Amino acid sequence: MKMNFCLLIAIALCFVAVVLRGLPVPSSFSSKPQLDPLFYSKTCPQLPFIVYQILWNVSKTDHRMPASLIRLHFHDCFVQGCDASVLLNNTATIVSEQGASPNINSLRGLDVVNRIKTAVEKACPNTVSCADILALAAGVSSVLTRGPCWIVPLGRRDSLTANQALANQNLPSPSFNLTQLKSSFAVQGLNTNDLVALSGAHTFGRARCSLFVDRLYNFNNTGKPDPTLDTAYLKELQKECPKNGPGTNRVNFDPTTPDILDKNYYSNLQVKKGLLQSDQTLFSTPGADTISIVNKFGNNQNAFFESFRNSMIKMGNIDVLTGKKGEIRKQCNFVNKKSSELDLATVRSRESVEEDLVSSI
Ligand code: HEM
Repeated sequence: MKMNFCLLIAIALCFVAVVLRGLPVPSSFSSKPQLDPLFYSKTCPQLPFIVYQILWNVSKTDHRMPASLIRLHFHDCFVQGCDASVLLNNTATIVSEQGASPNINSLRGLDVVNRIKTAVEKACPNTVSCADILALAAGVSSVLTRGPCWIVPLGRRDSLTANQALANQNLPSPSFNLTQLKSSFAVQGLNTNDLVALSGAHTFGRARCSLFVDRLYNFNNTGKPDPTLDTAYLKELQKECPKNGPGTNRVNFDPTTPDILDKNYYSNLQVKKGLLQSDQTLFSTPGADTISIVNKFGNNQNAFFESFRNSMIKMGNIDVLTGKKGEIRKQCNFVNKKSSELDLATVRSRESVEEDLVSSI
């Protein structure tokens, strides 16, 4: 990826726009006043630039990373809200969401988030939440891949818990039909337009064969491929995902522009080139209200960008912890030690120093 000054300007403009109030704040944001794009303007003004710089560098060599980070924010928000619960590792008291079936061997970008957190802690210690880093990383990832720019509302705090069972329950499956998809989004307060707009994130990134191979050979136990798959595309996919193969190969979601956030996801659906069943069903369910939305976005990238921006902000507001709830984690993969534990640790280390002193006399 080449150095692109337009992208830098786009990021800078976002923040200048907030200050000058030159850009309209999306309605979905103004109805949720607890987050604020200027939340860290005094305590960590360099935050967006740290995130941008690290992601710009990473995405020069890892073109897939922006997609992986947008997905990480989605998988965070759909499970007890946007609280960085997805980042917590297994410990004696935490059962990590990373072990849930939609996440296992699938999530990427955890190390990149840690790299950002380390840089942010150095610049502004104990100030910025991991949940906000995830939201900012998603916003920057969109800009880096030529997608829309939005003003990221901030001020989320990090959870003290994770919920693997809820991750299994709330994250939608690639074989969901339209009714199931709609209800999975409705649980999060997201409507049909949000469903279609956010599914547009499948305009980049990859999916493993095992997640859609049934469509290629034995759809719904018919012994035949999914009839809503274009036949030439079917042949390409069959080459990439052989019958009875291990299912571990990764295929581009968008065969036309695999690493760009654009409207091609929708033009692909219009010609039966959706990769997952949950993608194609938005266009191929007879009589569905989603068809006209796919057509609108497929024919007008600005309309898609406008909706994607609003729906990402709406998703980023799901059940956020603010004020005194939760905490600002020091390390994104672990909750902070309780102050009683810290006190104990301090007492112990003081005791051991004193013991050393005594013994050395
Ligand atoms: C509508 C329901 C959705 C379903 C059923 C679904 C399912 C999936 C599946 C099965 C994968 C491939 C995982 C793998 O290969 O391990 C995937 C990847 C991806 N999903 Fe979704 N997803 C949905 C919605 C979303 C939303 C709302 C977003 C973001 C706003 C999103 C962003 C992505 C991205 C960017 C990737 C590629 C990630 C990468 O390459 O690392 N998805 N999704």
